[in-house]
Amino acid sequence: MRFAMKMAVFREFFILSAIIVSFANAGKHDIYSGFTVHGVKLTSPSHAKLVHDLEVSLDLDVWQHGAVALSDALVMVSPQNKQQFLEELEKNGVEHYLHLEDVAKAFEEHDAEIERFQGTRTNRMVFESYPRYAEIDAYLERIAAAYPDIVTLVNAGTSWEGRAIKYLKISTTNFEDTSKPIYVMDAMIHAREWVTTPVALYSIHRLVEDLQEQDRDLLENIDWIIHPLVNPDGYEYTHTTVRLWRRTRSFYPEVSQTCYGVDANRNFNVSFNTVGVSSDPCSDVYPGHLAFSEPETEIVKAILEDNVDRIQIYMNIHSYGNWVLYGFGSGDLPSNVAHIHHVGAAMGAAMDAVKLPAAGYYLVGNSALILYATSGSAQDYGQHIGIPFSYTLELPGYGMDFRVPPQYVDHINAETWRGIATTARLARSYYLARNAN
Ligand SMILES: *[C@@H]1O[C@H](CO)[C@@H](O)[C@H](O)[C@H]1NC(C)=O
Repeated sequence: MRFAMKMAVFREFFILSAIIVSFANAGKHDIYSGFTVHGVKLTSPSHAKLVHDLEVSLDLDVWQHGAVALSDALVMVSPQNKQQFLEELEKNGVEHYLHLEDVAKAFEEHDAEIERFQGTRTNRMVFESYPRYAEIDAYLERIAAAYPDIVTLVNAGTSWEGRAIKYLKISTTNFEDTSKPIYVMDAMIHAREWVTTPVALYSIHRLVEDLQEQDRDLLENIDWIIHPLVNPDGYEYTHTTVRLWRRTRSFYPEVSQTCYGVDANRNFNVSFNTVGVSSDPCSDVYPGHLAFSEPETEIVKAILEDNVDRIQIYMNIHSYGNWVLYGFGSGDLPSNVAHIHHVGAAMGAAMDAVKLPAAGYYLVGNSALILYATSGSAQDYGQHIGIPFSYTLELPGYGMDFRVPPQYVDHINAETWRGIATTARLARSYYLARNAN
């Protein structure tokens, strides 16, 4: 009792001083003051393992795990951890370089850049920059109201903090023609991956508001489910408070008194809580105390489960790194892996054909074999319940990590739409072939 009171008083004091500090020193990203980001060259599997081990032992935020001989890891370290982190790399002969000298400053600059960009673009469409929850919601509502013949708005439930989670169903036959395959796309399961929602919104735009003649088959032959904001609580939190928040915002005091949220992309029930996760409730790869503990993952599950007979393809969109990945996260391969690879490679090639010079080429493969093992992912859930083509898409970062400049968003949208169109047509041809047999 006395302890609880002391804690309450302490907390008041803490909040008060936090407010004073934030007034005295207005930098929105001050919690990252003095944090640095280091590029790490992975020339052997032991280097990748070292990064993983240090991630756990020093509780590091690994922005990008990288892949041996293919791409560097990017690791954010606090001022307290920096020396030990660099010593470990040196001791193991791992080559490294400074990617960002001051994370706080980098995000202040990115915010300013977004503000400038938005100032120069009047009549900006919602998907041409980084919209907030309210703007995204208004767009979904507007599209559904303006195109009732082909669009149905689904209010799927609420997030942990009570935000409505909505998605669109797009169909010329009101989802009643069961000979059509369904394409499911979702974005922003990880809150800090800002560029993902614009891609989903732009896809809606291209199917509904700006259907071009060459894409008419996509609207007429396929039913679409587009869910642009899987984790709205985490996303809003990245705008208001902690830019690099990745998880949901749930709170289970019986599990942890101090840490909120789970990694929603480890919260599905396939090999739940086995590899690529941490049992520390404060970790960015904490899978939750139970599979589907989060209302946000329950909603993704329901979308996939309710339509599983007709869903031909599921695209779970992330940022960044230029990867088209497929299951399983354990390294086991689905029996139709040749087809999955074919469709994924065609997607990568379609996007590479129009890529900006600053972007890398897409790499395509099993997520465990070319990146690292995971468990409980949305990608694996889709594959596991019987969706033939289930992918994790990692959009380009242009060497700018999570700070994709707003001027690049248009290009990512258009380029990714090209990839999505390619996968939709190819996956449909597999669907027709299967149903003909
Ligand atoms: C996961 O949940 C689905 C229901 O959505 C069920 O069909 C499946 O058997 C479960 N898998 C595991 C490994 O528990």
